[in-house]
Amino acid sequence: MTMEALKRQAAARALEEVRDGMRLGLGTGSTAKHFVELLGEKVRAGLKVVGVPTSEATRAQAESCGIALTTLDDIDRLDLTIDGADEIDPALNLIKGGGGALLREKIVAAASDRMIVIADDSKWVEVLGRFPLPVEVIPFGLAATRRGIAKAFAECGVSGEMVLRKRRDGHVFVTDGGHWIIDAHLGRIGDAVRLAGLLCAIPGVVEHGLFTKLASVAVLAGGQGIRVVERQ
Ligand code: A5P
Repeated sequence: MTMEALKRQAAARALEEVRDGMRLGLGTGSTAKHFVELLGEKVRAGLKVVGVPTSEATRAQAESCGIALTTLDDIDRLDLTIDGADEIDPALNLIKGGGGALLREKIVAAASDRMIVIADDSKWVEVLGRFPLPVEVIPFGLAATRRGIAKAFAECGVSGEMVLRKRRDGHVFVTDGGHWIIDAHLGRIGDAVRLAGLLCAIPGVVEHGLFTKLASVAVLAGGQGIRVVERQ
C-alpha cells in the first residue's frame, strides 16, 4: 500500500469520530488534506459542520470542498481538531510544523476539546527529535533569538544545527503569520515538556513545534492495519 493510501485510511478512520453539528479544527499537511477532502464529501451529502482552518492552504481547500468556515473570534471552543504530525511519541507528544503551519495549528488544537492526530505509522517514534524541530521566530533580532534558543537547548542537554528554513527558490520561507522558521536538528529530545517551556520563554520565539498534552488520540495507519492510541 502506498504512503498516500495509508494517510487516507487514517483520515477516513478519524472521520468516523465526526458528528453532525460539530465545530472542527482543520489541520494542515498532506494527511490533513485527505481528511478535508473526505469531510467535504460528507458535507456535500448533508453533514452539517463548521471548521476553523489552520492555514491559508487549508482554508482554500476547505472552501473549494464546500465546508462552512468560522474563526475563533466567532466561536469560543472547538469540539474536535484533526491534524497530521511529523513525529508522535508514546505519550502522544508531537513534533509539528514541517509544513510551516505550527502557530495556527497550536492555537486551534489548544482551543479544542479533543485533538486526533492522523498519520502513517512511519511517524511513530520512541523519542522525539529525529525530525528537525521547527521554531517560529520574529525576523527582528534573529541572531539574539538564535542564541536564546541555543541556551535553552543546552539547558535541556540537546544540541544540533539550526537552519533558517528556505523555500525551493532560495528565498526565506515566510509563515502565514509573517514569521520565519528555524529548523533545529537535535536528533533526540529527552524531555520535550521541559524544552517546550524554555522555548516559549525566549523573546523572539513566536511558537515551536513541540505539541505536548494536546493530542488525545493518534490514528496510525500501517501495513498491518490501523492502530488507535489514546493518551493516558
Ligand atoms: C504542518 O505545519 C505540519 O504540522 C503538518 O501537520 C505535519 O508536517 C504533517 O504533515 P504531513 O501530513 O504532510 O506529513
